[in-house]
Amino acid sequence: TGYVTLDKGYKNTGATQSAITFLDGEQGILRYRGYSIEELAAKASFLEVAYLLIYGELPTNEEFSTFENAIRRHTMVNEDMRKIFEGFPVNAHPMGVLSSLVSAMSAFYPDSYDDKAEDKTDLHIIRLLAKLPTIATWSYKKSQGHPVNYPKNTLDYISNFLHMMFALPVEEYKVDPVVADALNVLLILHADHEQNCSTSTVRLVGSSRANIYSSVSAGINALWGPLHGGANQEVIEMLEDIRNDGGDVAKYVEMAKNAKQTGFRLFGFGHRVYKNFDPRARIIKKAADDVLSKLGVNDPVLEIAKGLEEAALNDEYFIQRKLYPNVDFYSGIIYRALGIPTNMFTVMFAIGRLPGWIAQWLEMRAQKEPIGRPRQIYTGSTLREFVPMENR
Ligand code: CMC
Repeated sequence: TGYVTLDKGYKNTGATQSAITFLDGEQGILRYRGYSIEELAAKASFLEVAYLLIYGELPTNEEFSTFENAIRRHTMVNEDMRKIFEGFPVNAHPMGVLSSLVSAMSAFYPDSYDDKAEDKTDLHIIRLLAKLPTIATWSYKKSQGHPVNYPKNTLDYISNFLHMMFALPVEEYKVDPVVADALNVLLILHADHEQNCSTSTVRLVGSSRANIYSSVSAGINALWGPLHGGANQEVIEMLEDIRNDGGDVAKYVEMAKNAKQTGFRLFGFGHRVYKNFDPRARIIKKAADDVLSKLGVNDPVLEIAKGLEEAALNDEYFIQRKLYPNVDFYSGIIYRALGIPTNMFTVMFAIGRLPGWIAQWLEMRAQKEPIGRPRQIYTGSTLREFVPMENR
């Protein structure tokens, strides 16, 4: 069967060529389609970045309004999808709900799995971008015992999400520009990250020619894991634990150093590719200070996070292994200040990552990549003879 190279976790195996995102882990560089993450986070809107990732160029004014208007027209979700949603228990994790309902979209749009209807792909992309925020807000509304808010399509993408989350019938909901801007930056920072676990999953599932909803749903599930996007929820829970335990960060650094015995890792620390710093974390750390002070929020876990970061960065274990705070370390502190509940942090990551998943799925199809099918090295038994049950 020829040679098989073993590379667990694909630490050194390139799975594809890609023109979407450039990442230099040694120098902490991240660029989408050639534009630096720092510049995009400071100057662009999330939907502009989505367009850039998906179609390869920044949109002109006209292209942008066509794109934005198309999304506005599709923010409503089929009422029958709500019936599926109603069946989930009130404490269902919003990530489980999100992936299930995105998967259900394939059943609601049958031309998504019709190989002869490829011309519909663009519409499916618009639907995904438009409906993901709507679906995401349902879980929160249910947790509050509130009816869902229908999308208000006069609003822009981010304001519409905030409206569906937080508007109450008692008064006109006014979007706080500080909140909208902070969310815009966070979503941009999460929009793509080349061949990470969830993106590789989207490409792998799509490589069997599975439809885009099924592929993205698989990506959402991959993202949920605590070593990937689920880390943002874990970070806040860890910081809360440290706080409730008296705030002794050194104790937790010690525990993490013995990760192999304690099973405890510092969530929000370490990265497969970044070995000096994560440029997204730099931007987020600054934004956290900024947003909390502008909103007048005093969150004691921010101090714990800073103390923990400092203690870890001065520790030989972390220095030797080149472990730095990643994108998930400070993001939860901002989400929390914006009023987003902890169990929705990874959902926010999914909303941000969606354009990246879509762009990567399209690229995989456009490049006519073969079905993804890793090999293995077999370590099981050699041939043995079947023993009938009565003789076992
Ligand atoms: N705390 C303590 N030790 C760690 C940590 C950590 N957070 N991360 C890595 N290590 C140690 C690990 O035990 C290993 O030590 P040794 O060399 O003694 O065996 C060494 O550092 C290398 O780690 P690894 O697990 O081989 O590295 P990896 O590239 O396979 O894993 C990672 C990368 C991000 C999964 C890992 O660093 C981790 O589990 N971090 C915590 C979870 C987290 O924050 N994930 C978010 C990642 S960034 C954005 C995203 O994807 O959502």
